[in-house]
Amino acid sequence: MSEAQRRYIGKVVIVTGGAMGMGQATAIAFGREGASVIVADIDDAAGAETVQAIEAAGGHGRYVKGDVGKSEAARHAIDAAVETYGGLDVIFNNVGIQPAESYCTAEDTPEALWDRIMDVNVKSHFLMAKYGIPHIRKRGGGAIINNASVQGLQSMKGVPPYAASKGAVLSLTRQLAVDYAHEGIRVLAICPGTIDTPLVRVALGRDPSTYAENLANAAKAHPLGRIGTPDEIANVVLFLASDAASFMTGEYVCVDGGMMAKGAWA
Ligand SMILES: NC(=O)c1ccc[n+]([C@@H]2O[C@H](COP(=O)([O-])OP(=O)(O)OC[C@H]3O[C@@H](n4cnc5c(N)ncnc54)[C@H](O)[C@@H]3O)[C@@H](O)[C@H]2O)c1
Repeated sequence: MSEAQRRYIGKVVIVTGGAMGMGQATAIAFGREGASVIVADIDDAAGAETVQAIEAAGGHGRYVKGDVGKSEAARHAIDAAVETYGGLDVIFNNVGIQPAESYCTAEDTPEALWDRIMDVNVKSHFLMAKYGIPHIRKRGGGAIINNASVQGLQSMKGVPPYAASKGAVLSLTRQLAVDYAHEGIRVLAICPGTIDTPLVRVALGRDPSTYAENLANAAKAHPLGRIGTPDEIANVVLFLASDAASFMTGEYVCVDGGMMAKGAWA
């Protein structure tokens, strides 16, 4: 890759949930294009592995441990970016959980599980914005990309907290975009379809005996006939956070192999 193709030289990026799945692929892609990347996660081994991959790809990386659904950890990740790399330009609010036990109706959802999913999937995005925006402002602008889901747009049976959390992420995206556009801070969301990550392997393999069938059905639900890869998400995030998307804010982009284009009657 030539220097001209490395769009993120001199830029500082935080990726929450950056140690696995889409977060990992995107953290490495930012590194490949020259960024200094804070990998904010709770998995030490995967965090260390990701930092190694970022450095091998030509970027700088630091793993910061903490549950970013909690204020202290979110602020710690932001402080680490500023102390280690001198500022902050981009936040990829990627983190999100969908525990196997959360597949049930509202009346069967324990309150503590609801709170936990909301903290990780929504509050973390709020906290990173709240404490990160003052630093992005100091750079004269930047971008926040939020990972929502097609489940923020349409739903399926039995996922109340996850679906509600993803709807909230889309609404928060619009709100932040409107509030900070005049400062050159663009805020966008992505709505992935099914992407091959550890989270999805848990979701499709809740009953291991039906994993292959579930995977085939998931592939069929996407007009492109397959599920997506984390790198296909990284490509879109790097575009949205770059100057090439300078007239985009407050919008979501479906990265879903055409899933949201298809009617239920199709
Ligand atoms: N995989 C899919 O098909 C899919 C589809 C639509 C949306 N999404 C969303 O994309 C995002 C990434 O999903 P994924 O499939 O890559 O997930 P994943 O489970 O594969 O990886 C998530 C990462 O987040 C970390 N993490 C979990 N809780 C954390 C916390 N409290 N604080 C910090 N880090 C934490 C994990 O250790 C892991 O590294 C999530 O927001 C998810 O809801 C996923």
